[in-house]
Amino acid sequence: MGIRANRWIAPPSSLELKHDEIHLWRADLDREMHSYPVLEQTLAPEERRKAHGFRSELERCRYIVARGALRTILAWYLKMTPGSLVFSYGLQGKPELAGGGVRFNVSHSQGLALFAITRASDLGVDVERVRPGIEKELATSLFLPPQAIRLLEALPKFARPRAFLRGWTRMEAYSKARGVGLTLGFENFDVFLNRNRPRLLYALGNPKETAAFWLYDLPAHGSYVAALAARGRKCRLRYWGWRVNPGAGGPAGPTLARLNGIPI
Ligand SMILES: CC(C)(COP(=O)(O)OP(=O)(O)OC[C@H]1O[C@@H](n2cnc3c(N)ncnc32)[C@H](O)[C@@H]1OP(=O)(O)O)[C@@H](O)C(=O)NCCC(=O)NCCS
Repeated sequence: MGIRANRWIAPPSSLELKHDEIHLWRADLDREMHSYPVLEQTLAPEERRKAHGFRSELERCRYIVARGALRTILAWYLKMTPGSLVFSYGLQGKPELAGGGVRFNVSHSQGLALFAITRASDLGVDVERVRPGIEKELATSLFLPPQAIRLLEALPKFARPRAFLRGWTRMEAYSKARGVGLTLGFENFDVFLNRNRPRLLYALGNPKETAAFWLYDLPAHGSYVAALAARGRKCRLRYWGWRVNPGAGGPAGPTLARLNGIPI
């Protein structure tokens, strides 16, 4: 699958989410940091409490911008105000819209957030920043299939972190689509480093899942790797850039004022 990082474009003013589409939104949280006071106003009391539980100011502000972005995006599809949305949480913490309408999943890594939105199917998204040595760091805390280790070791050292994270994000996206987080265990999968097969190949102990989910490698940004997993038929992916105040350069997105006239 061709990966182009410049696909993320400004959405049209009237944006329709068709039943066979998944919309991906990308937000540069650090670039939009200036907007956190206004975005914080859209958060529910428990989200503000969570935000103020972060020790690091940077993490607190990133959380607020990411939640605020999620709320403004969902509100746009639902024609509601961002602050009026109510989330419920699955047993393992997966957020959903209490009133339904659209399904979504979120991932963030070091200042970049991705949001996946669809009408009907379970979906999960994961993004990770590529950093040197990440494959060794994460491999110490999980069981890697021997085949994956062999594939990794056959690559030149510089290529290993990205290749590892390609597999990692696929696994995590799939686990998040099922709402179970990382509790599935990576030994259960055989898609780890397979570059050319975005379809989920094999989920041990649950063969029906093999046919039920699609995996997609996503273009994220030069130093990031991302993947999406969605249940059901293969969908058309559309990529949008989210910005509070589109300025010169970079993809624009819905401004708070442009959200179909929806006030905060
Ligand atoms: C979900 C999980 C995979 C997140 O991994 P991560 O790489 O640290 O974080 P990501 O940025 O990719 O994803 C975080 C987002 O996923 C969503 N999320 C949280 N739990 C989720 C779950 N069980 N399934 C799918 N998505 C989930 C949230 O929107 C969260 O963003 P938010 O905190 O801003 O709301 C990891 O926390 C996990 O395994 N959780 C499940 C088990 C667990 O620890 N539960 C404790 C809470 S009950």
